[in-house]
Amino acid sequence: MHIPLQAYEASIFEKISSRAQHLGIQAWVIGGFVRDKILQRPTKDADIVCTGDGIALAHAVADLFKPRPHVSFFKNFGTAHIRIADFDIEFVGARKESYNRDSRKPAVEAGTIEDDQLRRDFTINALAISLNAKDYGTLVDPFGGIQHLQEKSIITPQDPIQTFSDDPLRMMRAIRFASQLQFTIHETTLAAIKTDAHRISIVSKERIVDELNKIILSSKPSVGFKLLYDTGLLKLIFPQMVALAGAQYLDGHGHKDNFYHTLQVLDNISENTRDLWLRWAAILHDIGKPATKRFEEGHGWTFHGHEVVGGRMVPKIFAQLKLPLNEKMKYVKLLVELHLRPISLTKENITDSAIRRLLFDAGEHFDDLMTLCEADITSKNKQKVKRYLSNFEMVRQRCVEVEENDRIRNWQPPIDGETIMQYFGIGPSREVGIIKNAIKDAILDGIIPNTLEAATALMLEQAQQLNLTPVR
Ligand code: CTP
Repeated sequence: MHIPLQAYEASIFEKISSRAQHLGIQAWVIGGFVRDKILQRPTKDADIVCTGDGIALAHAVADLFKPRPHVSFFKNFGTAHIRIADFDIEFVGARKESYNRDSRKPAVEAGTIEDDQLRRDFTINALAISLNAKDYGTLVDPFGGIQHLQEKSIITPQDPIQTFSDDPLRMMRAIRFASQLQFTIHETTLAAIKTDAHRISIVSKERIVDELNKIILSSKPSVGFKLLYDTGLLKLIFPQMVALAGAQYLDGHGHKDNFYHTLQVLDNISENTRDLWLRWAAILHDIGKPATKRFEEGHGWTFHGHEVVGGRMVPKIFAQLKLPLNEKMKYVKLLVELHLRPISLTKENITDSAIRRLLFDAGEHFDDLMTLCEADITSKNKQKVKRYLSNFEMVRQRCVEVEENDRIRNWQPPIDGETIMQYFGIGPSREVGIIKNAIKDAILDGIIPNTLEAATALMLEQAQQLNLTPVR
């Protein structure tokens, strides 16, 4: 099989080959690089496995480049890394133990190339290309990796129970590859995931969320989430999402299954954005529904306030999953809190003040909010979809008009909290908040003009009611 390489890749591999020969050892390119080349996917790193000392080989290869690249290595693990231009190369000695980059177990027992391939996660990740003079460029495929690539099948090289017990994260990797490559997990491998799902508990949260984010970034993330759900992994790693599942009927009233609805929204939004956090907002937009679900006699199911409750859940979920607790979290929280606002604007006579409020609250994230709302339309009724979309178009249009006049999106009221505190010689307090909000609300509602003069007058009026007197 001919595997087309970039010129710089071919040149680096020839150098590795010549150094390995010089050291009297054998070397292969192995793993994800080979898989991605065959699938014609972009590659930016390569793993080299050799019989012998991977660190010595890395040093010998580094010597051939000017300037000499830095060799970072871990003696205990027998691994070394160099970077040439933007290409990362990792060296390791072939081993009998499981191959897993994040394993804290030191490499002890050396093995043959076949031992090494057997202990990798999937046959499609165990393919190797020889860098040895006698068969340079030949594909080494003892476990049917090529056939499985053609069949689009994810299967472990040995008994899956063994493969997963070596590193339970591989259960999530199987699902990540299924979602990313649109492959199917072989039935015995899938059955082993169902049996061993509980062992995910020994894997660090950081590694789990890394895989979860890769699933979320795949072109149709629902594939991965359905597998996570069906295998029982989702309940263990992200129970709040599983709580969305199920449709309940009472007195002839039903509600939609919010788990499958959420997946549809996630797939919809993935057609329009590659942004991880906007996709997270889609995952979490209805997360407050189970906690707010009520049955109202004669009316049916309601989820009043689910956007507020959902917004409150966001920081907790981010902390639990070890997602960053920074402005990304605040962004997701904001979108969850606001996701019903544009819909409510399509139902009433839209006033300029309501539009101004939406623009103010969403600020620079207004377009993302509208993208989320459009993705949230999952009705199968084409007429309805058309109507909802045209309603949103109308909201967008009104927002453009109001924004052109009032410039609300990046607007801040003419008087801030700091100014109020100085003016009345007070510290941070409830009174400052009351005055600040009164000014903001009055301007957004069009009661006073957006000027410093009008805002100061209102501030003084409010202050009087609060028994505050200016210090100057
Ligand atoms: N590997 C493994 N078990 C793991 C992690 C990795 O057997 N838990 C092996 C596989 O052979 C894999 C290689 O190590 O191909 C490199 O791992 P990694 O860089 O994590 O993944 P890739 O397969 O290269 O895929 P991607 O770059 O998309 O993460």
